[in-house]
Amino acid sequence: MILTDLPAGFHDDPFPHYAVLREAGAVRQSDGSVLLGRHADLTAIYKDTETFRSDKTEVFRPKYGESPLYEHHTTSLVFNDPPLHTRVRRVLTGALTPRALERLRPSLAALVDRLMDDLGPTPDLIEQFAAAIPVEVIGDLLAVPRAERGPLRDWSLAILGALEPALAPEARARGNAAVTDFLAYLRDLVTRRRVAPGDPETDVLTRLLQDGDLSEAELLHNCIFILNAGHETTTNLIGNALWLLDRSPVHRRGDVAQIVEETLRLESPNQFGNRQTTRAVTLHGLDIPAGTDLHLCIGAANRDLEVFATPDEMRLDRGAPRHLAFAAGPHVCIGLTLARMEGQVALDAFLRRFPDYRITGGQRGNRVRFRGFERLDATLA
Ligand code: HEM
Repeated sequence: MILTDLPAGFHDDPFPHYAVLREAGAVRQSDGSVLLGRHADLTAIYKDTETFRSDKTEVFRPKYGESPLYEHHTTSLVFNDPPLHTRVRRVLTGALTPRALERLRPSLAALVDRLMDDLGPTPDLIEQFAAAIPVEVIGDLLAVPRAERGPLRDWSLAILGALEPALAPEARARGNAAVTDFLAYLRDLVTRRRVAPGDPETDVLTRLLQDGDLSEAELLHNCIFILNAGHETTTNLIGNALWLLDRSPVHRRGDVAQIVEETLRLESPNQFGNRQTTRAVTLHGLDIPAGTDLHLCIGAANRDLEVFATPDEMRLDRGAPRHLAFAAGPHVCIGLTLARMEGQVALDAFLRRFPDYRITGGQRGNRVRFRGFERLDATLA
């Protein structure tokens, strides 16, 4: 399995390739980077931030050059190590209070109802449902005025699209333009929020501003990151669940929290994480020098027989989640409670109203890192 030269049919069904990767333990790529796919390896790597760093200042320089994308990705907490990571993470987790998240629930439920009212008999469940939810929820979280939310989704897709292993020049240009426009928008929003602050207990942006521990660039880039991190991933969680339940209708009446966990495990929205070695290590007989890029295949780890019995089956009796869809260790997803809440509220309401929906067609995103659909055609009657 070579990430930049994938076999035909990979996006539809990468899992046989993941099985080969798990079996091998570690596979070196032609560019010297190494793929890993066992649950135990990923868990250990995610926890050991001294040996496996997230910092991307070196890796991203040739990929992006000096550019808005470079500044954005190297300032986001996800691509940093302590001390920047610890400081930014403390501020963000402090702002995402349980009260701030709970405050979103009623408007989330109302949004889901409104979207379902407008679906019509043969909707596209991505455009009209799954993708319409996270952008509004994160807009609510940061209190972005409703009328200004239009461009958020395209900015987010363009910036995340530029993380793909094989980056086309047009995709790079789109990503750079999106960072520039997004920054300009947020600078203006922050200026307005400083003049008219919200309640710091429930308004995350006000809380971030009042904390005062982040520079302007850190604040803006990490707000962009929150919007991006929570957008396509959660869209894909909801879309992938609807797709899985079409193939396995018997589970539609099951516990929705377990449906969400099994979707996260079987069809992880984020299929790959990355780390870089800070010292030489040997894994599965492979000598890996310091400075090697590692691709951590979450999608493979989440079907590892060592951890999950009958790993390719959806089962709603697995108990406490052990999947790595949100990673693990110091970088574990900050938005996991919010993502689970969105998934559960959306799916619960959808399955109650449309228990007999059918998927009739669709188009996958065809991306290596993000697994999900661009379009999912359905009949609701
Ligand atoms: C189903 C939806 C989601 C999935 C599958 C997901 C997955 C992940 C993963 C795998 C990581 C670890 C990245 C790494 O270090 O390699 C991560 C980090 C992160 N996620 Fe999520 N995420 C989701 C939703 C969200 C939401 C809704 C938010 C925002 C509120 C969010 C905010 C973040 C942030 C800020 C980080 C960086 C944490 C750090 O580096 O310390 N995510 N997410």
